[in-house]
Amino acid sequence: MNADAILATGGPTPRVRQTRRVESQRMSEVATVLFPGSLIRDRVRELGQEITRDYRGRSPVLISVLKGGAVFLADLIREIHLPLAVDFMSVSTYGEASQSSGVVRIVKDLDQDVGGEDVLIVEDIIDTGLTLSYLLSTLRERTPRSIEVCTLLDRSARRIPPLDLRYVGFDCPDRFVVGYGLDFQERYRNLPDILAVDDMAALLADPNSLVSYLDQEPPELAGVSG
Ligand code: IMP
Ligand code: MG
Repeated sequence: MNADAILATGGPTPRVRQTRRVESQRMSEVATVLFPGSLIRDRVRELGQEITRDYRGRSPVLISVLKGGAVFLADLIREIHLPLAVDFMSVSTYGEASQSSGVVRIVKDLDQDVGGEDVLIVEDIIDTGLTLSYLLSTLRERTPRSIEVCTLLDRSARRIPPLDLRYVGFDCPDRFVVGYGLDFQERYRNLPDILAVDDMAALLADPNSLVSYLDQEPPELAGVSG
């Protein structure tokens, strides 16, 4: 059977196109859409193109800090057209969960030795920068060839140590954000959009008050007849 004959028998099922409820129809007094998923997708593509250009001829090691950075990393690597490696680190900060203390403990270290490698740290958001600052000093001791940072969000208003962020997706206002990897009490990492929380007291009183944002219109079959 040739390729045409295979296709005539049905071939692969066509992809379904997802229709998304328009943002204005999403009503909530607790949060507002700050960065819609479509905007994030476009920006991640641009960042990937920039990184592909800058690292041409090299094979960077992208390091994601669990858990928030993992969603961004998963999308970003598919926009980088170079041989690369990924590795993960998990850290816990001492002190209040909502406030970075800068005292960091490595809960899960990298699997690979980054000595001599081009390291790119991929983060969801840099807030005070205390966590990143600790990571940078720890990783520099391992003598990588280079070390740079790519963060989706830069909330510079709260920065404590001065940091040089090579790649930034968006500047983030001084608001608590959830979605696209970012959580509130482990919820909402799977939101395709990033929301800014308007009423933190309401969210604290009912941590499930944003679940309606997880609702999507049912998939609509596109280009399928019969
Ligand atoms: P930093 O040490 O203050 O820069 O803390 C950065 C980390 O805190 C980020 O990687 C996030 O995991 C978390 N974080 C900071 N701001 C937010 C937010 O608005 N929403 C969810 N997580 C946040
Ligand atoms: Mg993080």
